[in-house]
Amino acid sequence: MSLVFPRPNTNTVHSKKDKRLMAEVNASPLKHFVTAKKKINGIFEQLGAYIKESASFLEDTYKNDELDPATTEEQVQEVRGYLAKVAGIGEVLARRHMKVVFFGRTSNGKSSVINAMLCDKVLPSGIGHTTNCFLRVEGTDGNEAFLLTEGSEERKNIETVNQLAHALHQDEDLDAGSLVCVMWPKAKCALLRDDLVLVDSPGIDVTTELDSWIDKFCLDADVFVLVANSESTLMQTEKSFFHKVNERLSSPNIFILNNRWDASASEPEYMEEVRRQHMDRCTNFLVDELAVVDRTQASDRIFFVSAKEVLQARVQKAQGMPEAGGALAEGFQARMLEFQNFERRFEECISQSAVKTKFEQHTVRAKQISEALRHIMDSVHIAAQEQRAYCLETKEDRQDRLEFIDKQLDLLTMDCKAKIKKITEEVERQVSNAMAEEIRKLHVLVDDFHMDFHPSTVVLKVYKNVPRPMALTPVSTSMPPFPQNSMTQEELMVSMVTGLASLTSRTSMGILVVGGVIWKAVGWRLIALSVGLYGLLYIYERLTWTTKAKERAFKRQFVDYASEKLQLIVSYTGSNCSHQVQQELAGVFAQLCQQVDVTRQNLEDEITDMNRKIELLDSLQSKAKLLRNKAGWLDSELNMFTQQYLHHSK
Ligand code: GTP
Ligand code: MG
Repeated sequence: MSLVFPRPNTNTVHSKKDKRLMAEVNASPLKHFVTAKKKINGIFEQLGAYIKESASFLEDTYKNDELDPATTEEQVQEVRGYLAKVAGIGEVLARRHMKVVFFGRTSNGKSSVINAMLCDKVLPSGIGHTTNCFLRVEGTDGNEAFLLTEGSEERKNIETVNQLAHALHQDEDLDAGSLVCVMWPKAKCALLRDDLVLVDSPGIDVTTELDSWIDKFCLDADVFVLVANSESTLMQTEKSFFHKVNERLSSPNIFILNNRWDASASEPEYMEEVRRQHMDRCTNFLVDELAVVDRTQASDRIFFVSAKEVLQARVQKAQGMPEAGGALAEGFQARMLEFQNFERRFEECISQSAVKTKFEQHTVRAKQISEALRHIMDSVHIAAQEQRAYCLETKEDRQDRLEFIDKQLDLLTMDCKAKIKKITEEVERQVSNAMAEEIRKLHVLVDDFHMDFHPSTVVLKVYKNVPRPMALTPVSTSMPPFPQNSMTQEELMVSMVTGLASLTSRTSMGILVVGGVIWKAVGWRLIALSVGLYGLLYIYERLTWTTKAKERAFKRQFVDYASEKLQLIVSYTGSNCSHQVQQELAGVFAQLCQQVDVTRQNLEDEITDMNRKIELLDSLQSKAKLLRNKAGWLDSELNMFTQQYLHHSK
């Protein structure tokens, strides 16, 4: 597949894309720093918010009483520490800028170079020793320029450069090592908009305090510009100062401007020769003595310029006059180009260098922090996962138990019901049998009852008063009360039946009969006597016979009657007994079921608890995962930043 692009119209009309590309080409290399700063500040803002979120998440997780802690106190503290650290770094990053410091002997044109770069007469310049302290030119958002002196918040307004010069000379506290900030409206100058800070210095030949200058003004400088005088040569003071700088900083970025090059125009025949001489000396100084650049790169660090001309041209242009107007020496255009070339190289160098020195370390730190947080979130995730697995296991175990209990209970219920039925039936059967047996034996018992019987009402009363034995009480008490009219009869019958069983005494008649028989066997002599007695006995027997017959008849009637009545209560008593047994067993079974219910409830509670915990752990896990991924995302952002801005080389 081939794609056909419309041919861009290169002649007149520029597309939006073309314009953007051109804008990028024309844009100051300082933008590299500006965009990098924006980017890294954004990343740190996100990192800060991320750490804040992580810290509160870990704190909540740690404080959650419902779960075992998935995080440790140390982790919470660690992340809180990061929060403070990242906030601190963020502040530092937001204030980051590129800084260039200009050094050189008095009157070489340091202030003039700065003014030329700012396209305005910002700093005082003039013949003789002009700059008497360090001047730091910095952008301000307002429209008014003002001065800030060290150790004071007071803003001194300045409207013209002469006022500034006057103010500086009026200030008696100022010495060569002190600093004054010149706050210049960003709106007036592109360089200041792009976070560049320019520092002017007094001539290095007027001080003996070079070491303290380096400590105070050079340690955070990204670029040093040595403003030399092309009318003379590099002096030992200049060289020794940069040797000191080179000792204190690791390979500083140094540019050498051979200023006042317009002077060469007056002697064009020696110009090439002088240029070559200066070039060699400067190259040797940078490459051999200081060893801060390769020989191949040296030509990008050494320039021949005229600051005075450039400033003049730019001020004129700003006032709408022709750039090359006025009394400009021969070769101005070339010197102008060379100054612009210097500016471009300088901007490339300072932005690259500043991005590296000012952001690299923090990028590495941020990467370490995001990595540490990713580990913490990983460990929280794992801890939550382990807890979740345990909860799930416990829940399943409890569910299994519950299921088992339910099944067992079903089985037991069936079994118990069957058993209760069987026992109940057995009881009913046995009770019925026992009673039937008793009824069957009733006549024997009644026959065995030998208390003197007399059909008189008195004797019948004795019969009736036989005490009720206790043996049958449970059955009787469990019975519902009999109707009142049958009560006495039934009671009597029962009493009789049971009472008979306990009687063991022999009757007088039995004794007499046996005694009589023995006596008869003793001898004839006695027979006479016995005959006599026999008569009496006969009468007695006769008498007793009648009574006995009556008793027997009564007993038979009694047995018949009692049997019939008892027969009636047999089935009643049997079912009553079995009903009671069934009630009893059902009660016991209900108690058992209650016990099982308590256990079931406990298990169900545990399962509910586990479910809630699992839900909590799920959200914990997903949050930890989210935060872990965020750390990963921040890490990739930092990698992209590193790739784009720190490993970027031209
Ligand atoms: P101090 O502040 O005293 O250390 O001097 P300085 O290095 O700041 O020099 P300054 O910029 O004040 O310039 C000193 C004098 O040299 C001024 O009168 C400038 O006009 C002049 N001057 C600066 N640059 C050039 C240049 O390129 N060519 C010529 N011809 N004169 C220059
Ligand atoms: Mg000066």
